Amino acid sequence: MKVLVVGSGGREHALVWKLAQSPRVKKVFAAPGNAGTAELAENVSVAATDSLGLLQFAQMKRIDLTVVGPEAPLTAGLVDLFVGHGLAVYGPTRAAAAIEGSKVFSKGLMQKYNIPTAEHQVFSQFEEARSYIEAKGAPLVLKADGLAAGKGVIVAFTKEEALIAAHEILTERCFGAAGDRLIIEEYLEGEEVTVLAFSDGEHVLTLEASQDHKRAFDGDRGPNTGGMGAYSPVPALTREIREQVENTILKPTVAAMVAEGCPYHGVLYAGIMLTSAGPKVLEFNARFGDPEAQVVLPRLETDLVEVAEATLAGRLDSLHLAWRPEAALTVVLASGGNPGRYETGLPIQGLAQAAAQPDALVFHAGTRREGEQVVTAGGRVLAITGMGPDLAAARERAYEAAGMIDFPGLHLRRDIGWRALGSFSTGNEGK
Ligand code: AMP
Ligand code: GLY
Repeated sequence: MKVLVVGSGGREHALVWKLAQSPRVKKVFAAPGNAGTAELAENVSVAATDSLGLLQFAQMKRIDLTVVGPEAPLTAGLVDLFVGHGLAVYGPTRAAAAIEGSKVFSKGLMQKYNIPTAEHQVFSQFEEARSYIEAKGAPLVLKADGLAAGKGVIVAFTKEEALIAAHEILTERCFGAAGDRLIIEEYLEGEEVTVLAFSDGEHVLTLEASQDHKRAFDGDRGPNTGGMGAYSPVPALTREIREQVENTILKPTVAAMVAEGCPYHGVLYAGIMLTSAGPKVLEFNARFGDPEAQVVLPRLETDLVEVAEATLAGRLDSLHLAWRPEAALTVVLASGGNPGRYETGLPIQGLAQAAAQPDALVFHAGTRREGEQVVTAGGRVLAITGMGPDLAAARERAYEAAGMIDFPGLHLRRDIGWRALGSFSTGNEGK
């Protein structure tokens, strides 16, 4: 069969890599892809947000299955468009993707169906938000309703910070229409974990957990990024807590989506805080995480085509997920300055050497080919995944391979996995 992967990040390279291994798959296309996907798939120069262009391409090439990586095409209704034209596509409809696209929707859903999450209130007027902040006091978490490229969440540790953020969102409209409504919620304390689940609208298959590292710098300091590294499995998520997550969060959410008339098909991403009062939802996403996909997909033994087909047929209950016993840890190599301003077009050295390392996988994100040279093309450039019998071995493999790669301004975190493993020296402190 012919498969199309929509997107161009590290997650999409991991999806291409995983799908290309399926004995059922003859050819993979990536739209638009990156320099890494080009080695396993044919890149197609259609943007992930060009729904009509993607439809035309899928019809012309008679694509058998389309897998949508990022949130923007999902919330724009790419799946609805493909389904409307009789094409097989893996991902939630526009209405179901609102679980990520509108935090007012997802918080309302959780409140209505008693799914554990931080207490919250919705505001559209600054004055009302101000009175609430004055009354509650810090710490508080402020969230713009709509998609804001990962920048729409502000954790305010003082009342002043909260007031400034509320003013910026509601009055100065720094996020435009995504900030028409503002959520202010209770600050939750604990360890964060990502739990992904496959859903066919009715049945839920929980994946092995992973832990992201969102802050730019070591010690979880600096600004939030899309994610600087991840590992799986997560020792903090015991079997008992995992069952709690499944029974109090994932299954009730999938059932709630049915009750709301927008059944959820695809990967449901639950960002969870393990609080002293039990696991609570920080956010839902309508897709695989990035870089979580770069550690979860290499561990998944089951064919992703089988998952997609069972999902489309509504028979995920007949599927059992098989996992490789190895642990995985991924380190993101980012452009200097990310998530703020950074340069692109810088030559990357050492890719082949890193990819030749045993138990290491080089996933490309913001890269492109210029003649013979691969150059940087985004904030997150590469994700280097190490695999090993345990997390410590996986970390060693990942950092060894990452250390072979260089480009001007390269920035990486040296402490990926610290919550599970403690701090350590990676041997590439010079970077
Ligand atoms: P989100 O995009 O909603 O996951 O938020 C981004 C980050 O903000 C999360 O990964 C958490 O680190 C933090 N965050 C979000 N909501 C809360 C909360 N209620 N309490 C504490 N931290 C939060
Ligand atoms: N790594 C966080 C996300 O994919 O949203």
